[in-house]
Amino acid sequence: MNPRLAIHQRLASTQDLARELALQGEAEGLAVMALEQTGGRGRGGRSWLSPPGKNLALSLILRPSISPGDAGLLGMMASIAAAETVEERGIPRAELKWPNDVLVGGRKIAGILSEARISGNVLDFVILGIGMNVNSDLSDFSTELQPTVTSLFIATGRQWNLEKTAHSFLHRIEDLYQRVNSQGCGFIPEFWTARWAHQGQKLTREGVTGTAERVDANGALLMRTAEGRLMRITSGEVNALFPQS
Ligand code: BTN
Repeated sequence: MNPRLAIHQRLASTQDLARELALQGEAEGLAVMALEQTGGRGRGGRSWLSPPGKNLALSLILRPSISPGDAGLLGMMASIAAAETVEERGIPRAELKWPNDVLVGGRKIAGILSEARISGNVLDFVILGIGMNVNSDLSDFSTELQPTVTSLFIATGRQWNLEKTAHSFLHRIEDLYQRVNSQGCGFIPEFWTARWAHQGQKLTREGVTGTAERVDANGALLMRTAEGRLMRITSGEVNALFPQS
């Protein structure tokens, strides 16, 4: 992959422009970045806030030669790259929440939206969208979100250049993606688990509670319910249960 960064002042969603370009045949490695998004999209149909000049909003086109069933692992790969980018900025530890949120001190600092296009049995392309809270202050978030979020600025007390942060993220992704191309996706669950914030902890998903056991080779979350059943979770929202016991 040859990463190329295209910076736009303002877009509805970098994800949508990257997808349009990929459909028109754009080669992999193009990263569409916007200094402001007016219609940023998050996982689960939620919206994603991107006020002007504050945060990293970027969507990368990849055309990997992997099976469509492994596409979800690339979102996890992006979350590992995002965690590494955060740590490169002097934050001692960035952890991961399934499937691909990045946490600092238990608060969300970045999220990944991974969207794949599959033609027949072939993975045509994947758009990896990252939203990272870079220079935002708590007052930039709704009062509802404030207790659950953080940013590089909040965690380090200084402002960070968005373009340089984007390049750092792309370098981290490039390294990991090179590994995918040479040896497949098999290493991703292991790398991801090393940063998992909730292994062995009590989780809740749509009213069902259980213990976080492991992440399997396809990136699915295996949760042991109170009745001893192993639940294989491939989508949706899973949260740590408070209190834990
Ligand atoms: C999440 O819900 O945690 C994922 C958020 C992903 C947001 C990013 S910002 C860049 C790209 N463009 C979008 O519209 N969404 C993603």
